Amino acid sequence: MTIVPQMNLSREALEPYWLPFTSNRAFKAKPRLFVGAKGMFYTTAEGRQLLDGMAGLWCVNAGHGPERITAAIREQAGHLDYVSSFQMSHPLAFKLAGRIAGLTPEGLDRVFFVNSGSEAVDTALKIARAYHRARGDAGRTRLIGRAKGYHGMGFGGLSVAGIARHRRDFGPLLGDVDHLPHTYNREHQAFSRGQPDWGAHLADELEAIAQIHDPSTIAAVIVEPVTGSGGVLPPPKGYLERLRAICDRHGILLIFDEVITGYGRLGAPFGSTALGVTPDIITCAKGMTNGAVPMGGVIASTKVYDAFMTGPDEAVELMHGYTYSGHPLACAAGLAAIDVYEELDLFARTARIAGYWEAQAHSLQGEPHIVDIRNIGLLAAIEIAPKPGEPGSRSAAAGNLCYEAGVLVRTAGDALVLSPPLIITEAEIDRIFDTIRQAVRALA
Ligand SMILES: Cc1ncc(COP(=O)(O)O)c(C=O)c1O
Repeated sequence: MTIVPQMNLSREALEPYWLPFTSNRAFKAKPRLFVGAKGMFYTTAEGRQLLDGMAGLWCVNAGHGPERITAAIREQAGHLDYVSSFQMSHPLAFKLAGRIAGLTPEGLDRVFFVNSGSEAVDTALKIARAYHRARGDAGRTRLIGRAKGYHGMGFGGLSVAGIARHRRDFGPLLGDVDHLPHTYNREHQAFSRGQPDWGAHLADELEAIAQIHDPSTIAAVIVEPVTGSGGVLPPPKGYLERLRAICDRHGILLIFDEVITGYGRLGAPFGSTALGVTPDIITCAKGMTNGAVPMGGVIASTKVYDAFMTGPDEAVELMHGYTYSGHPLACAAGLAAIDVYEELDLFARTARIAGYWEAQAHSLQGEPHIVDIRNIGLLAAIEIAPKPGEPGSRSAAAGNLCYEAGVLVRTAGDALVLSPPLIITEAEIDRIFDTIRQAVRALA
């Protein structure tokens, strides 16, 4: 039987591919195949247009397929396809690092290239431990993550992450790890607009953890400035400031995982800028190339970088890197992406349209089953009460109804999560929330 006639894909032809984070058997029985994308829309194999409410997977910030990025990749591929970054390089890697340093908070200006968010996180954790060792403080090895945190799928990122279902099957993970509590409390925060007023005190748990382990054993704390995959949880007002102060008090590095919040999502180049708290290390990926070529980065402070620049000049200062670190196609895409973001003034535009986004998201308050709405920048989550004893049941059904109605949203537990391309118009915002309104009204 041919399942996708336009592509001549039979059920059998679907078998060899083992899809990530997917119910493979359900997918292969009813595949969702996409064959094109432009701007705010995907084209499905059936020829339907789908409004992309997720920017792909939180990454296509300037919309799909900006010509400038496509052309830059094409040109670079015909020019220099590959060069190792070990003891050699190419000019675009330096150019891109310089452009990124121009977007980050002051003092964060040393960029290490990797190929994904997961690699960025594992690299940042390794840099944190090696930083303390380079300073003669090798006893600082402990890493602190946070409940509901998502930091990719490497063993390092998984170890500091806080979503049990992601971790369950892969243990034992790194042992030298502890976790902060998450910051979500519906009783105190439901229907907050932007950063909730309640919850700054939860940062003080870091002090408690430090006192249990002894602060001098802790290398780094890693958090997403806004928890993303864990359900879009903006930080309570004052929370990140308190984390920063506690880290400073004890010589602990603060890492912000900005794989989602980097590149404009909160209406400034990085979440750190938007939220006014500067970490020691930022991880990024996704919007770095507008999703067009896999790439990630670790952006370290000069202080961190300089700690490594000791010993003989010929010594390799950090024994770490990947075959595709600073890949020429990724660098070309990364430079073109920044050009496009600047040309469209996309970060400032995001800050301007975020108010409309917020108002439309919260217009769903009072619709059936909706128990919370959260938003910040161009992110939102609509929390839907599940059927008793069936977690995720209604959110999954609502997501499917939206898909049938031509709008792509994502589910995270009981929430619908939204993270559209930053080029979204007011009319498209209306369409997303009207579609969700109709979907939740149709739910049993
Ligand atoms: C905050 C955060 N960190 C890390 C990652 C992992 O990125 P990747 O899937 O590119 O490895 C993600 C992916 O969604 C993320 O949201």
